[in-house]
Amino acid sequence: MAERLEQLVDKLAAEHTLTDGEYRDLIAGRTPELAERLAERAVAAREPIYGTKVFTRGLVEISNYCKNDCLYCGIRRSNKNVERYRLDPDTIVACAREGYELGFRTIVLQGGEDGHFTDEVLGDIVVRIKETCPDTAVTLSMGERSRESYQRLFDAGADRYLLRHETASPEHYAQLHPAEMSWEHRMQCLRDLREIGYQVGAGFMVGAPYQTVEHLVREMRFVEDFKPDMCGIGPFIPHHDTPFANEPQGTLELTLYLLSMIRLIHPSVLLPATTALGTIDERGREKGMLAGANVVMPNLSPVAVRKQYELYDNKICTGEESAQCRGCLGLRMTLIGYELAIDRGDIRK
Ligand code: 5AD
Ligand code: FES
Repeated sequence: MAERLEQLVDKLAAEHTLTDGEYRDLIAGRTPELAERLAERAVAAREPIYGTKVFTRGLVEISNYCKNDCLYCGIRRSNKNVERYRLDPDTIVACAREGYELGFRTIVLQGGEDGHFTDEVLGDIVVRIKETCPDTAVTLSMGERSRESYQRLFDAGADRYLLRHETASPEHYAQLHPAEMSWEHRMQCLRDLREIGYQVGAGFMVGAPYQTVEHLVREMRFVEDFKPDMCGIGPFIPHHDTPFANEPQGTLELTLYLLSMIRLIHPSVLLPATTALGTIDERGREKGMLAGANVVMPNLSPVAVRKQYELYDNKICTGEESAQCRGCLGLRMTLIGYELAIDRGDIRK
């Protein structure tokens, strides 16, 4: 049995695909030995493409207003205990410029689905960042919008879009979201974004409520079929003011295992070791790299609002200045033999 699963790891490394049954067995049969084998193969698969260079994305959390009510999320609209904020364009552009000076060549604007950020308002900010920060990619992570809106923002200069699909299984999606949100629409957004020409990031939470091995098999199949340019996966961490407050958090071990599998399925994928991973384990992001990740996304938001963008409890870096985070991550990466790159960090095709 153990030997068969070891062979599945080697098969995944060689062929970048398994059958549903094989994915199921590999995930369900997880052991520390298999995790080590997967991580070794994942690092070897990443080596010729990215080596030990770690790409950075500076994250500016521009608004915590959100019209959605996702059951897992701390800034869901029903949470009346959050103090809401939105950053003004000058502040956003200043954060981006500060990031640029620190060595970031990708700026991510992330926020809840906030009607204040019309195409005009957001498009102007994109234009200004592109003017202020030469050779820098702008990534938007502002949720579901119309195809026309995505097109206008692309025309304004946005290069990439992050929209986690959250789960590749429609019935699981319905367990995590209110009835007015639909999995089909989310998938349509991802297809629209790709067709328009964005580099597209998708992703899901590990250990989300109701998640089964069968769901994870669907996730692996999704990565194989859609081949997102980036795939953000991190542990689910309960937020105290949500209906999932008492659900268990996702584990470090399963997250690392899936990171390695995703690297083997799609060797050139941009794979972040997320802030959530750094939250559940002091060395989570370092362990993420050693499992096959190659991206980190430190925070560039003004310190004054950081605690208000709390999607889950105990988020790290909420008291740190941007420069401190960059420095801290740089040191952490050096200590494991990796280095932060000053680079847009496009996917190598
Ligand atoms: N735990 C972990 N990740 C979360 N996200 C939202 N809420 C949580 C949580 N409680 C993730 C979602 C979303 C991304 C911005 O953050 O996957 O797409
Ligand atoms: Fe923010 Fe370490 S990355 S303080």
